[in-house]
Amino acid sequence: MDIFKNDIISFENNSFLIVDDEAVNRELMKSIISNISKKIKIHEAKDGEEAYNIIKNNKIDVVFLDIIMPNIDGFRLIELLKKDNLFDDIIVIVVSALEDLLNLKKAFQMGVHDYLTKPIEIDILKAILPIKIKNLLIYKKNIEYLKSLNLKIEAELKSKLAELFHSDRLASMGVMTTSILHEINTPLTYLKGNIDLFSNYFFNFMEKFKDYFLKNCKNNENILNDFEFNGFKIDEIINKFEEMIKSSQIGISRIIETINNFRLFAKKDEEHVSYFNVNDLIENVIKIVGKTIENKVNLILEKGEVKNIKINKSHFEQIMINILLNSYQAIETKGKVIIKTFMEDDFNAIEVIDNGKGMDEDTKKRVFEPFFSTKGEEGTGLGLYITSLLVKNYSGVIYIDSEINKGTKIKIKFPIV
Ligand SMILES: Nc1ncnc2c1ncn2[C@@H]1O[C@H](COP(=O)(O)OP(=O)(O)OP(=O)(O)O)[C@@H](O)[C@H]1O
Ligand SMILES: [Mg+2]
Repeated sequence: MDIFKNDIISFENNSFLIVDDEAVNRELMKSIISNISKKIKIHEAKDGEEAYNIIKNNKIDVVFLDIIMPNIDGFRLIELLKKDNLFDDIIVIVVSALEDLLNLKKAFQMGVHDYLTKPIEIDILKAILPIKIKNLLIYKKNIEYLKSLNLKIEAELKSKLAELFHSDRLASMGVMTTSILHEINTPLTYLKGNIDLFSNYFFNFMEKFKDYFLKNCKNNENILNDFEFNGFKIDEIINKFEEMIKSSQIGISRIIETINNFRLFAKKDEEHVSYFNVNDLIENVIKIVGKTIENKVNLILEKGEVKNIKINKSHFEQIMINILLNSYQAIETKGKVIIKTFMEDDFNAIEVIDNGKGMDEDTKKRVFEPFFSTKGEEGTGLGLYITSLLVKNYSGVIYIDSEINKGTKIKIKFPIV
């Protein structure tokens, strides 16, 4: 809505109310108003009570109000309208005798907008009333506009405050997560160490025990075979222990992997953010993962012209390692991964293209969801989720293009600095 201009007021949908106990005055006012515009709808009331009912049940824009009337007079009417929150929506013009100065003053103190003097001077009113009313209507529309603007601003402010609160909460959740992860990580590390130690110790012990037992029970070799616990023979029990220990070790490793993924991300290591050339960073990543993946993957780096990016080096490594390991895992026996670097608009772009098994449509839609994985026990489903968070953290973008049985292309872009 725009601030209303003079020419917009056409009286098209305006309703006026004349409140006066004298019929002659009402008729006079009626003829003056009709003269302003035939489009104005005119209501009449002979006292405050009638006027109140009309205002309550109709949309009235302007009221010409006589003050001294029987029963409910002009002042009382204003009080009633104010009480019911109806006063603010209308323009009230008092029609009063000029000598009635005290009443006039009181009416203005109560908030009326203007006044006309009695006896009504037809010619003067015909000349000035249209302009007076137009100005008042414009004033009213502008007030309405400002009110609605105010409501809009208040609503926007509220939602901005909610957003701020939300991001503040996220930030404190980040801090909390980091400290929880730290707390979990320490006991987890010695739990893993102890289970590994226990597993070595236990199986060596059992081997030794069996050898010793068999050697020293020559006369009764069956003794060991006869031993049963809960219906299981000794070798079955050892196998069961082995299964349990192995699955505990896998479980703990998965927890540690998940925690490490989050820790590196949660640690917003601003101090280590620095300027790096993208090609140098990638060559460094290849040094880290090259050995692990070279048994299956022919890794080719096609270096293009690139500029510096501002990033935390371990974050960049995490991004690239997640993507490269996915390619490695998508290649069943032997395959190829090409890493291309180049500039695109104001971005440094990196593409990782593999000829692995590709993704179906559902996988493609869900790759960035946390904990989404098609790898069962082998994957936590956090790789690409964390990767996308990290990329966004540096105002970058990540795209996926993949076709089942053909391969996958992941493209990331970082703004040039
Ligand atoms: N290069 C790729 N080729 C085929 N599928 C892929 C590729 N990269 C990702 N995916 C699919 O996206 C899923 C999610 O990948 P993401 O890296 O987030 O988790 P993950 O590899 O399963 O587990 P994690 O990375 O935690 O070990 C994968 O399970 C896989 O189905
Ligand atoms: Mg992965």
